[in-house]
Amino acid sequence: MSKVLIAKELSRHYHVSRGFMKGQATVKALNNVSFGLEAGRTLAVVGESGCGKSTLARQLTMVEQPTSGHLTIDGVDIAAADSATLKKMRPTVQMVFQNPYASLNPRKQIGAVLDEPLLINTSLSKAERDDKVKAIMAKVGLRPEHFHRYPHMFSGGQRQRVAIARAMILNPKIVVADEPVSALDVSIQAQILNLFMDLQDEFKIAYVFISHNLAVVEHVADDVMVMYLGSTVEYGQRDKIYSRPLHPYTQALLSATPAIREEDRRQKIKIQGELPSPLNPPSGCAFHKRCPHAVDRCKQEVPMLRTIDERIVACHRVEEIN
Ligand SMILES: Nc1ncnc2c1ncn2[C@@H]1O[C@H](COP(=O)(O)OP(=O)(O)O)[C@@H](O)[C@H]1O
Ligand SMILES: [Mg+2]
Repeated sequence: MSKVLIAKELSRHYHVSRGFMKGQATVKALNNVSFGLEAGRTLAVVGESGCGKSTLARQLTMVEQPTSGHLTIDGVDIAAADSATLKKMRPTVQMVFQNPYASLNPRKQIGAVLDEPLLINTSLSKAERDDKVKAIMAKVGLRPEHFHRYPHMFSGGQRQRVAIARAMILNPKIVVADEPVSALDVSIQAQILNLFMDLQDEFKIAYVFISHNLAVVEHVADDVMVMYLGSTVEYGQRDKIYSRPLHPYTQALLSATPAIREEDRRQKIKIQGELPSPLNPPSGCAFHKRCPHAVDRCKQEVPMLRTIDERIVACHRVEEIN
């Protein structure tokens, strides 16, 4: 099947001031990230806070233009597109955020919130739009009487249903969900994840599902990409990554996730220290300062992504340590 989303060596750098009289510095928030995604499939993007997940989301949703690299969405080269093309393409990719309360206008009733994308992007009549709004509300598990309610009258889980309905109402080919269940009670998380899965089955949407938590994405992901300080450290099929993680960072993330496969866990691997600043990344392998397996080579040489055991991984010592 053809891919609806292709990223090739996608990078986004930010120029930031280092402070008074210190000049500019470059934050390499996203570095040469490559992946492909087919309709109806889910790519999970996982890593600690600050590793570049939301920066990736902003490139995929065309909110920002990448610094370099290629991004192809539904066959259109986005990185080279003019503003008219971008405008036409934007409805193709919709976003769901972590905090639905912040992304919903508190003064608008749910019906109006869901009507807005249709009003802006289609020439449907009021009656046709109302029908669509009511249909999508039913699909996401909201009741007809919710149409005239305001966001504050809903629970967190229901608000996320509204946000999902708003993302889905224009029939996007791709939905980027940035930590969509992280703010919800654990008991509600599974319901919302199931809703995502049901909608994907029905509409064959491609998901980029962003989370700092590997346990959350295990049941939704087809492929998993683990990121560290703006770069991919391991990327492959879900089952490969979860059954036999090869990168020390993936191993540490998985071992820090108590909910999954406790019996397989040989030992708890603690990630030492803090995530380094992308303003001043470590030399060599960006993970070396926190890696239990680091040797001199890791301090000096940047590891390239290599194909090992049917996934790609960036670690000099993969063969020795696994
Ligand atoms: N607009 C910006 N200007 C400068 N730095 C930014 C900007 N956006 C993100 N960053 C930096 O890029 C890095 C990645 O951020 P982000 O993509 O938000 O990570 P994540 O979503 O994984 O927590 C962080 O160090 C962050 O401070
Ligand atoms: Mg983020």
